[in-house]
Amino acid sequence: MTTSRRDFLLTTGAGAMAGMLSGSLAKASFGGSTQPMPRVRKDVTSPSAAADIASYKVAVEKMKQLSQSDPNNPIGWVKQAEIHGTIAGGFGKCQHGSWFFAPWHRAYLYYFEQIVASLSGNASFALPYWDWSRTHTIPDAFWGAGNTLLDNTRRMQPNQPFSATVINEFVGLPVINGLLADTDFASMWGDDIGGGEFEFTPHNQVHVQVGGNMMTGASPLDPLFWCHHCNVDRLYSEWLGRRGHFPPTAPAWRDKTFNDFADPMGNPAGGELTVAKMLDSRDLGYVYAEQTRFDFALAPTRGWSEVGRLTSATPLLADGGFSFATEPLTDPKLVQGVSDAVAGSRNEAVRVRIKNLPFPEASHLAVRVFVNCESPSTKTPITDPSYVGSISFFGQHGERDHGHGQNYVLNATRALRSLYGDVKIPEKKEINVSLVTVPIIPENAAPAPTKGGPLKAESVAVEVVALQD
Ligand code: C2O
Repeated sequence: MTTSRRDFLLTTGAGAMAGMLSGSLAKASFGGSTQPMPRVRKDVTSPSAAADIASYKVAVEKMKQLSQSDPNNPIGWVKQAEIHGTIAGGFGKCQHGSWFFAPWHRAYLYYFEQIVASLSGNASFALPYWDWSRTHTIPDAFWGAGNTLLDNTRRMQPNQPFSATVINEFVGLPVINGLLADTDFASMWGDDIGGGEFEFTPHNQVHVQVGGNMMTGASPLDPLFWCHHCNVDRLYSEWLGRRGHFPPTAPAWRDKTFNDFADPMGNPAGGELTVAKMLDSRDLGYVYAEQTRFDFALAPTRGWSEVGRLTSATPLLADGGFSFATEPLTDPKLVQGVSDAVAGSRNEAVRVRIKNLPFPEASHLAVRVFVNCESPSTKTPITDPSYVGSISFFGQHGERDHGHGQNYVLNATRALRSLYGDVKIPEKKEINVSLVTVPIIPENAAPAPTKGGPLKAESVAVEVVALQD
């Protein structure tokens, strides 16, 4: 892979990068060959990020002025945000709810970072990230009267930390480390028909928590958006960089390009970068200060494929939530696959796929997913062995999307391991999936938790998948 990375830099990448990373950047030995010195994206709370924050402020201020003198300036603050969406209209070009979520936002940041570098005059500018797993408040850099990085529509206030629920269920380090350790790309980052857990668990919830513009399609109007997504991008790098983690092999994913962006001159950009060319951030000229693993695609042809699936029969209404009973587990291939996954194999996984779950009318609602839970209710804690994960919602409104929900993929392997790690799964066992709608914010003065009733999906399926040799 080193070879192909170098080839890319020397051929397609070199011209583009020379233009983007200005000549003042020193050439240095990096990754074993002579390449331009990468930008180093740092934690926004670390002292080493001070110069980047200063450059960020200069550029954001200029971008806001550009929008003021010409609302259609493609590198103006407002036009940049409108690539993503608007307050009234929801999402624009941004990709949500599928495997394009991480690569689309990666490309969006990549071009934005170059605009900031150019406008600030700091050629080595690197976008800093807000690591909300460690920093549970909105960092100081985004507060203060007259600070161009302030957005006064936010719901969260200075020094106001996330609630314990938000930390334990959505954004805390144990949650993130659990996701990073999961080998199945689809349930972590989505696939062609559904979104994955990194998107709808921590990412969506941070948008909801910050509130204001950040809760809308126009979230990039808040300068915090870019540092929030920088952290999501960092986790994408972390996940991809681990040995035994494989991105999709499908050309529909790998060859996809997004022609939605602007270069620092305001020219249309994005068409030349495929998703596959953006897998290793070093090929895009940046790294994360703390990233240590770079085992990208050691065997790039290994993909996941479906061993089989259990589909849901009729939904069963259970206490406080909606449960679906799948057909019983009888096919020997499936029984074997589930047993292998439960026994700890990293090459088998069990996914829960939720089809057409509507957006709630209030964004403080989230959905907890359980498998084979005895009596699921809003009181069932996320420490229950049957807990799979939590879905939060951002950027769309129940009213507008009436009847049209989104699809979600979760990894149920860990839950099944907790339930059946020590006992054999009973023969002909059904796998029941329960969706429990719960209020997340505000924690103490919650409005009616089930305005419009618990969210009800069209169907669920349990998929057994295996990594191909
Ligand atoms: Cu396209 Cu975090 O949003």
